[in-house]
Amino acid sequence: MKIEGLSAIVTGAASGLGLAAAHALRDAGANVVLIDREGERVTKAAEALGCTGIVCDVTDSEAVASALDTAVSANGPIRINVNCAGIPGGMRLVGRDGPVDMMAFASVINVNLLGTISVMTKSAARMMASPPLNDDGERGVVINTASITAFEGQIGQCAYVASKGAIASLTLQAAREFMPWGVRVMTIAPGLFRTPIADHIPQEVIDSMLDGRMFPNRFGEPAEFGQLAVDIVRNPMLNGEVIRLDAGVRLQAR
Ligand SMILES: NC(=O)c1ccc[n+]([C@@H]2O[C@H](COP(=O)([O-])OP(=O)(O)OC[C@H]3O[C@@H](n4cnc5c(N)ncnc54)[C@H](O)[C@@H]3O)[C@@H](O)[C@H]2O)c1
Repeated sequence: MKIEGLSAIVTGAASGLGLAAAHALRDAGANVVLIDREGERVTKAAEALGCTGIVCDVTDSEAVASALDTAVSANGPIRINVNCAGIPGGMRLVGRDGPVDMMAFASVINVNLLGTISVMTKSAARMMASPPLNDDGERGVVINTASITAFEGQIGQCAYVASKGAIASLTLQAAREFMPWGVRVMTIAPGLFRTPIADHIPQEVIDSMLDGRMFPNRFGEPAEFGQLAVDIVRNPMLNGEVIRLDAGVRLQAR
């Protein structure tokens, strides 16, 4: 899709990868609405980009629907939806205190998985109801954010791994379901990126990754995530796939 002038929404956009995606899409000419539950930060980030910011918790279905309606009113039919809202979830299936606390497990699933599904389905439904944009019949694209832990689950991250694995496995299913309407679905599975969420990654995990078995041997920069999001929107042949953005790293068990 040609990005210039298109309406885009990005969740988790007050920080890190979401902010970088919003930035890259804005620079590519999209009219971007930044969505995040952190009110002050999303307002400031949107102001800095000259975009609209909406305070919204992705786990609140009604608030999501209302945020998307606001985005449509501001910028026209949504054509691009990047979902980055997410939280860490360090816990073991069976820890020192026994089996995992199901409420704690569910809270991670609620944000990372159900929040993503809520925004994705509501934005896709709006895309399906909009006229096609080009000769391919393309109406829009959804980009979700998983993690390489979806494939190499590390000990101590069970809820996070489960949430990201489900996002990864839903990618092809969603793309297949939305194909008749020309709505693509892609997922980016980042490795280690320099954002606030990375503060929750244990130092030994960081050390085990930055040990020369990846190139480049460094944290990814959020702008490199934004760059991929823009490339996915532009390239219509990318559909139903999970792209690892990880410098070739493969995670160890811990
Ligand atoms: N940084 C990494 O190394 C890395 C690696 C793999 C995957 N990821 C994934 O990338 C995504 C973005 O992470 P990040 O590194 O930019 O982290 P971040 O903490 O910088 O940004 C996450 C943003 O999501 C927002 N958010 C959290 N819960 C929300 C909710 N319920 N409703 C609305 N907004 C909410 C936060 O306020 C924050 O602004 C996450 O899904 C994360 O799991 C990050």
